[in-house]
Amino acid sequence: MKQMDLSSKVKPSPHWTKLAAASLAALAIAGCGGGSDAPAPVVPPPVVPPPVVVVPVDAPPSGTAVLTAAAASPATTNTAANPSQAFGLIYKAGANSVTIQSPPVVHFTVIGSDGKFVPGLKLSNTTSSAAGLAADANCSQNNITFAIAKFDGTDWQSLISRQRYATADTATNRGTALVPKYRYAVAEGTTDPKPTAPTTVTKADGTTVANFSFANPATAVTDPSTRIVGILEENAAGGYYTYRFATDVSTSLLMANAVDVKNVSVGKVANNGKVVAKDGKTLHRVAAQMCYTDPVTKAKVVVNPYVDFTLGADGVAVPVKAADGTPVAARKVVAMESCNSCHAPLAAHGTRVDPNYCVICHNAGSTDFNTNNPIDLKNMLHKLHGGKNVLTKDYSINGLAFRLTDPVTKEVSGTAFPQDVKNCATCHETQYAAQAANWKSVPSRLACGSCHDGIDFSTGLGLTLADAAAGATSSLYGHIGGRQADDTKC
Ligand code: HEC
Ligand code: HEC
Ligand code: HEC
Ligand code: HEC
Repeated sequence: MKQMDLSSKVKPSPHWTKLAAASLAALAIAGCGGGSDAPAPVVPPPVVPPPVVVVPVDAPPSGTAVLTAAAASPATTNTAANPSQAFGLIYKAGANSVTIQSPPVVHFTVIGSDGKFVPGLKLSNTTSSAAGLAADANCSQNNITFAIAKFDGTDWQSLISRQRYATADTATNRGTALVPKYRYAVAEGTTDPKPTAPTTVTKADGTTVANFSFANPATAVTDPSTRIVGILEENAAGGYYTYRFATDVSTSLLMANAVDVKNVSVGKVANNGKVVAKDGKTLHRVAAQMCYTDPVTKAKVVVNPYVDFTLGADGVAVPVKAADGTPVAARKVVAMESCNSCHAPLAAHGTRVDPNYCVICHNAGSTDFNTNNPIDLKNMLHKLHGGKNVLTKDYSINGLAFRLTDPVTKEVSGTAFPQDVKNCATCHETQYAAQAANWKSVPSRLACGSCHDGIDFSTGLGLTLADAAAGATSSLYGHIGGRQADDTKC
């Protein structure tokens, strides 16, 4: 049987749902002690019909409930000012925001500075777009993209990964001139595939070839297994959007078994064995990468709303909520506010602005295809800001040199923090991030070894930063804690 999309038009008959409710009510009454003084008459046990499996529905918001919830407190519902309300308002309206059976289905809203729904958002939004796709001059590629991860207790894991290939030769890579040099075969966290408009590429010899373009077959809504790209549906009257992921995150699909170039221009996309846990306790995060123009102020808005949740056996997400009922981050080691005390504001890869979105890809499962270096944020971000002042070895990621020694002059260049990088609390600020104190309470070879790149944890030897700063090339003791093969004794 094909997997059924919860949100598809195929819904369980309401009679079954009613029947299940009626039999539950009967059981509840029969089991009730009763308030009467008379001895309880012997009642024959009710005839219990065979259990009815009620397939959970994704419960889209009803009527104009989202618009009513948005209008109730206009100051707090503007997506630009309070990104998490993109999901929070769906819950306020009494509906589910995230349901995951095969590919996730997400209801969310976008509210402008006037407290009204922002219509017209598109998945694919290029100026060279095909007919029917509006172009937003402020957001060159797209208005919205989605990504998903789960937390394994120590690290985030991307549930959608992209396979890169080890090739050094651009000419042999599927015959287009656009393909860069991939040096390492890596899998790295990525966003759910989105549609692209057809384009052409002019090759070095002057001939023109069609570039890959991605569109769904007609069956995509009813049969998610046929999807190539995600689907965005707008419900302007109800004040919300529905996003249907293309990637199945419930059933394991290893890269080795995924279809090459099914839904991404450079390789293939799959969960790579990382699937959701419907156990009621494992933390998951769905994030939206959004860019749109505020309909009133005409200002460009770039936000990364995310929602943290656990999943019941039925695949319905239970959001982690604050005391006042608004969804909150369940894990926050650093906060965007701290980054933005220097960055005004932070922006990476164009429209990625929140470090709690970065971790969906920048985690233990992803490495850079150029260098094979880890891009886990707790390693990369420390190295990036320590840079030429702290690192003892040259280091780069995807062409961005954190520390670089000129082969001729031996002069060292690179990135640098504008203050002492030992001020750990400049980024790890408890006032904004609940787990900020992890900088001292959750040490690991990856996090501490990022700046301490002279330490060899397998031998316990190497160069301390203090000795390196004093001009030494080796230290008497190296790692003060000696040889360590794992993080358990940190
Ligand atoms: C959807 C996945 C994804 C998200 C989200 C993401 N990145 Fe990346 N990023 C990557 C990958 C993958 C690489 C490594 C380069 C490669 O192999 O393509 C990378 C590389 C980088 C680099 C190295 C230089 C460069 O530009 O390639 C920087 C800096 C960076 N990311 C910063 C960030 C920051 C900051 C955020 C959050 C605000 C973020 N990234 C969010 C996937 C992501
Ligand atoms: C005390 C100031 C300061 C703070 C706080 C800070 N940064 Fe930076 N960051 C810098 C400076 C300065 C650079 C440029 C380094 C260079 O090129 O020499 C930089 C560079 C970067 C880069 C490289 C690409 C770019 O955009 O220039 C990224 C990505 C980045 N920071 C992310 C972050 C994140 C994420 C946080 C919060 C967790 C953060 N930064 C906090 C000062 C800061
Ligand atoms: C430029 C910003 C910045 C500075 C400065 C910084 N960190 Fe971090 N740190 C980060 C980011 C970003 C993460 C990853 C957060 C996440 O995974 O959610 C992180 C993660 C960590 C972790 C891992 C915590 C965990 O839960 O796994 C440790 C340990 C840590 N930092 C230690 C330090 C120490 C020690 C210092 C000072 C010597 C420091 N950091 C300075 C940005 C910073
Ligand atoms: C953001 C970069 C950064 C991170 C991350 C970091 N340190 Fe350091 N650490 C430094 C710097 C800089 C010094 C001072 C070197 C000096 O005195 O010149 C230092 C000094 C030390 C020293 C003294 C020995 C030496 O190398 O000079 C120890 C021990 C130490 N750190 C432990 C840790 C532990 C444990 C963690 C992880 C929880 C950690 N550090 C994470 C930058 C970092």
